[in-house]
Amino acid sequence: MGGVRGRRGPPPLVLALLVLLGGGPIGQTHCGCPGGCDCDPESALCRGGAGLPRGLPPRLATLSLVRRHIEVLGEGSFRDTPALQLLLITAGHLGTIGDGAFSGLVLLEYLFIEDNDVGSIAPTALRGLRGLLYLSLANNRLETLPKGLFQGLETLTQLDLRGNPFQCNCRLRWVVSWLGSVTIPTEPGRCHGPPQHQGTPLEQLQPRDFQCLSSELRPFQSLPFSSLAAEPFAMGGHPGLALAQPFNGACALLEWDQLAGRFRAPTIINGTAPVACHPLPLGGSLVLVMAQLSGGSSVWRRSGGPGSRFVRLQALGGGRLRRPHAVASARLGGHWYLGVADSSKGGTSTLFRWGGRGFYPHQALRPWHRDTHLEFLELGGSPALVLCSGTRRPLVYRWSGGAFAPHTDIPHVPDVYAAKHFRLRGHVFLCLTRFLGDAKVMRWEGSMFREVQQVPARGSMVFQPLAVGGQRYVLLGNDYAPSRVYRLGPGGHLEPIQELLAPSPRSFAPISVGHRHFLVVSSFKGATQIYRHVTIDLGA
Ligand SMILES: *[C@@H]1O[C@H](CO)[C@@H](O)[C@H](O)[C@H]1NC(C)=O
Repeated sequence: MGGVRGRRGPPPLVLALLVLLGGGPIGQTHCGCPGGCDCDPESALCRGGAGLPRGLPPRLATLSLVRRHIEVLGEGSFRDTPALQLLLITAGHLGTIGDGAFSGLVLLEYLFIEDNDVGSIAPTALRGLRGLLYLSLANNRLETLPKGLFQGLETLTQLDLRGNPFQCNCRLRWVVSWLGSVTIPTEPGRCHGPPQHQGTPLEQLQPRDFQCLSSELRPFQSLPFSSLAAEPFAMGGHPGLALAQPFNGACALLEWDQLAGRFRAPTIINGTAPVACHPLPLGGSLVLVMAQLSGGSSVWRRSGGPGSRFVRLQALGGGRLRRPHAVASARLGGHWYLGVADSSKGGTSTLFRWGGRGFYPHQALRPWHRDTHLEFLELGGSPALVLCSGTRRPLVYRWSGGAFAPHTDIPHVPDVYAAKHFRLRGHVFLCLTRFLGDAKVMRWEGSMFREVQQVPARGSMVFQPLAVGGQRYVLLGNDYAPSRVYRLGPGGHLEPIQELLAPSPRSFAPISVGHRHFLVVSSFKGATQIYRHVTIDLGA
């Protein structure tokens, strides 16, 4: 609000009020003075009673309503007394000050609604008070003030808001900004809550003390195919995402269609039943590993820039891979490695090394365990690998002498389907999905993982930490219940914030288009879903 006058000094009406309330000179009852009131042509004092007094002298300049019970002040409440210069409502009850409650009172200079139990006030309650100098809403029950309440009060020179149980949350942020922008004397009072601001004088708060940004994932697009792995990558600064479509027998690359303002997912490789299409930018081109349940797995490379054809480089693993289930890659000691978890009864999870024109077997990990997932990470500054299987506890390997050596297993969790890690403030956390049991978050304690949080889950095959639009989340996919979005708290604690209705989710992956951020949710049984990440300012 611009143009507020900076005039200071005590309100000149205090004396006037003392006279008025002292009851001395008034008491002279005129005709046209309602019961319970003392009037003279210019002033009236009404004590007790309910509602607004009717039939007051029309040229009234001051009106005091003491110990009156009034439910609502609404538009036109003071229509019959347009010459009021001072209005005092005190020591009674006034539930709501509604829209335009004082409209028409263009001469009003002093408005005191104090000690009066006021619980709510409309954003436009003070509309039309063109000459108001002094406003007091002190000692009421106001927990907040609606945005824009003081708009148009260009002549205000003093404001008193003391004694209200203000909740200093996002809804009150505008008051704090406004107080910082005006120069008039104000008594804004103190915060009654929330706990972190309790007792703090409003004038000591800054707009930045309010955490008002909230994020949400909103349904954006549904792609008409089911999918398993959705894996993000970045090439030349551009984010991309590869999708495995087992029922279409294809790997697809998610693309933003500028004209349509939507995504599409053209096939890049035809196969039989890919469970993973693992993208890996290598030496300036995009390599893609297609892991399939049948028909053999293979490695492909894009022949040129975006949009160009993928050419087949090699069959992966020969006879070694029988039933690949998950693929991951990492750069270790100057080389790129690919890990493939094999879930067949007699299969062996295998580590491959990039040799320039293909991946070549480097190390057989433990055999015979129906492995479901592997995750590369760093523990204590050196490379490690967590291998999960449906029949044994997850095994933690550490990199040593050019190969992975078993280091420890993760206790108390015999049935981990997948493990995904995130780092926070120097700590390494693992999110463990268990198909029937609750999901768990564990933290590396130097020599082993220890549980820090358990999250209820039923039929979960994905528990994925990720960042969308600069915010960190962990998403828990559920087959028999809605999936959950957790915000990652500062200490690594997960706070539930939203549910997603995507059916049978198998992976969650972020992708950005310019300043727009999206989350792709692959679905084993239904359509692949894309959500848009939106940020809402709760203080706006
Ligand atoms: C995949 O197969 C379809 C149908 O045969 C064909 O039209 C399409 O060009 C193929 N895509 C690629 C990338 O080879």
